[in-house]
Amino acid sequence: MKKAPQQTWGGRFSAGPADIVKRFTESVSFDWRLYPHDIAGSIAHAKGLAKIGVLTNAEAAKIIRRLRAIRPEPDPSLEDVHMNVEAALGSVGRKLHTGRSRNDQVATDIRLWLRSEISNLKSQVSNLQKSLVTLADKNSGVIIPGYTHLQRAQPVLLAHHLLAYVEMLARDAARFDDCAKRVNVCPLGSGAIAGSTLRLAREFVAKELGFDGVTHNSMDAVSDRDFAAEFLAAAAICGMHLSRLAEDLVLWSSAEFGFIRIGDAYTTGSSLMPQKKNPDIAELVRGKTGRLYGNLVALLTILKGLPMTYNRDMQEDKEPLFDSADTLSASLQVMADMLRHTKINKAKCEAAASDPLLLATDLADFLVKQGMPFRRAHHAVGALVAESERTGVPLPKLAAKKYGASAAKVFDVRRALAARNIPGAPSPKQVCAQLARWKAVLR
Ligand code: ARG
Repeated sequence: MKKAPQQTWGGRFSAGPADIVKRFTESVSFDWRLYPHDIAGSIAHAKGLAKIGVLTNAEAAKIIRRLRAIRPEPDPSLEDVHMNVEAALGSVGRKLHTGRSRNDQVATDIRLWLRSEISNLKSQVSNLQKSLVTLADKNSGVIIPGYTHLQRAQPVLLAHHLLAYVEMLARDAARFDDCAKRVNVCPLGSGAIAGSTLRLAREFVAKELGFDGVTHNSMDAVSDRDFAAEFLAAAAICGMHLSRLAEDLVLWSSAEFGFIRIGDAYTTGSSLMPQKKNPDIAELVRGKTGRLYGNLVALLTILKGLPMTYNRDMQEDKEPLFDSADTLSASLQVMADMLRHTKINKAKCEAAASDPLLLATDLADFLVKQGMPFRRAHHAVGALVAESERTGVPLPKLAAKKYGASAAKVFDVRRALAARNIPGAPSPKQVCAQLARWKAVLR
């Protein structure tokens, strides 16, 4: 008699898979990470089977004890985490796979894994928000130029600039929350595609695993990876925010700006140029955003055009997911730490913010208050700026000459900031209120 192939699904096969096929199809080298969730799912499933009498309480207890005790080493010839766990259970586990397929099992595992990753990422996001708020708070009086087109635009408080990132991160957290709602639904009981003839206790199992409910369509449940794509999209957007923050830090730490000094431990040197102190951490955070985008596009591409329902293509969902969770988590953490070791050079900031051109708009507003239509005022001030550039006479001086001494007063930057006192604007009063709000929210 020929030896039966060792695969759990080997019954109808006359030979096991070729070695190259085993290597090509195995996923345990990366899906081993789902192990604790596979165990949790299996424990709940065993309890569910006991509840409907497919397992006796004693059998379920034995399986559960064994699920908690086993410490297998992953074996690639057993394909994936699910089969490795089953094999490690030995003969007590032979009834466990009743009413279950790897298709609903893997969907369950990924959801459980993602649920815990999202909660980790959310605390990382709030940790970074805290470090931004702390830096803003410590330097709440510092004024910098705000930029559009990377050209000096109008004065703002540095705190206002930093709090802009706190707002972005709050939206990122909200996106993760929203995604988590669709993650936290239990597909177990969907089987391979068409549920089960056994009266599985789906609601009970879902509750055991902390899910909010069960999926409503077995075909959708095994083919759905929307929640994974949503997560990757949320991660990509969060990465985009980090890359913008990183870019600001790169610019601000340059000699040209000089607004900040990043602590030595969060910078690196050059192998050739002894004087260099490079913002590599910020640059890497900026660069890693590429991976986050790539992972999203990879998964969307994998899913595109797949026929219903489960297809093995979907095994390719895991590495992008794992990579995005890891990449984003590390980036959030290193950014938070780096900001805690970043000092603001107040003198450089204020020197840049003292550029009178930043208040050209205020001069136009001054003329508007005297009754001049804004378009005319804009033109008049523009001409004055050109004259100042041409003659080298500072703008406040030209303004005083042309519109009287009171016109020169608009060039007091502190006064100009204080005047921007409507909700969302950067007056010290408004920014102070926002700082207080964030401190309360993040406490
Ligand atoms: N390792 C597989 C995956 O990650 C598990 C599901 C396999 N199901 C199957 N019918 N081959 O997608």
